[in-house]
This record gives sequence, structure tokens and C-alpha cells, in this order.
Amino acid sequence: MATPRLLGISGSLRSQSTNTAVLKSLGARLGDQAEMSLFALNDIPLYNADIETEALPASVAALKEAITQADGLIICSPEYNYGTSGVLKNALDWASRPGFNSPLKNKPVLIMTSSPGVLGGVRAQSQLRETLSATLSRVICGPQIVIPGVNQKIQNGHFVDETTIEFMLAGVDHLIAEIKL
Ligand code: FNR
Repeated sequence: MATPRLLGISGSLRSQSTNTAVLKSLGARLGDQAEMSLFALNDIPLYNADIETEALPASVAALKEAITQADGLIICSPEYNYGTSGVLKNALDWASRPGFNSPLKNKPVLIMTSSPGVLGGVRAQSQLRETLSATLSRVICGPQIVIPGVNQKIQNGHFVDETTIEFMLAGVDHLIAEIKL
């Protein structure tokens, strides 16, 4: 099989987002086992079925095409008020259409969360898993990848915690195994 193409999606729009930094640093460590590009959600509008019916926004069409072209997704989300970010939930809602037959159907997805707090965004994990189950995507099971104290693990915009990077790479191994099934 050709090198798996992964799509990274950060749940934060912030230019200095720690979640985006985690994805970028992970992407730089994939070596030849996979290639990963990132899709920024900054231009995705709020979901509105009227807009969807009239003319799909170009940013949404690009997101859906990027998901279609990817062999698997890696999502890294912050935790906002014990759930995922509205930005990410909104993007998944757009990508989930048409219901049960969207680009997310059968797509292998690895979920990761990070937070400056001690719980690493773990409370957003179950919400994301539940949402993705409604899209019929194949969410990777295995040790949950939660990254607590993420602010202390970023240096000059790069995520540098080697133990966590190894843990994430093991998660990517699971994702690639799912892709190759
Ligand atoms: C937060 N933050 C937060 N952190 C956490 O661990 N649990 C939580 O429930 C929340 N809730 C929350 C709500 C809102 C509205 C904001 C803005 C923030 C803190 C959050 O984890 C922190 O801002 C992260 O740094 C955001 O991720 P990025 O932007 O660095 O990727």
C-alpha cells in the first residue's frame, strides 16, 4: 500500500494553539510511515442547512474533499467546559452530511486532546467519540491520548515532550493498522 495520507484537524483556531502545535510536531515525527497535512478550520462558517442547500461554502467543500482524500484523520482538541470546542463540533457537523453517508463514513479517526490542566482534556474525549460514532467513522480504540500540562511541553512553538510523542506515535501505529484492514 502507498504511504498513508493523514489529515490533522485541530480544534482550536488560535495562532498559538497548543493543540495545533501538538499536531505539527507529531507530523514532523512520522518519518516514512505516513504523511500528514493539517486542515485549519478558521474559514468554516457556522452550520446552517439553508446555506448547505443553496451552495456549499468553498471552505466546507475543501474540508469534505480533504477528508475524502485522507486515509485517516488525527483530531487534537482542547477541552472547553468539559466538552470539545464548538469550532470542532461545528466542523464535524458540516463534514457529517449527508447523514450516515458522509466523507466521515468508515474513516479511521484517532482522537487526541490536550489541556494546560491536569486532566488533559479527557472530558472532551467521550463527547468526540460519541459524535464520531454518529458519523459511522471508525474511531481508534486503545489507550486514550490525553496530554495534561501541555503548556509546559511547548518550547518555541514546538511540542517537545518525548514520552508523549512516543505515546502518540503508538496511537498512529493503531491508526495505520486500522487503515490497512
Ligand atoms: C477552557 N479551558 C479548559 N481547559 C480544561 O482543561 N477544561 C475545560 O473545561 C476548559 N474550559 C475552557 C473553556 C473555554 C471557553 C476556554 C477558552 C478555555 C482552557 C483550554 O484548555 C486552554 O485555553 C487551551 O490552551 C486551549 O487550547 P489551544 O487554543 O491552546 O489549542
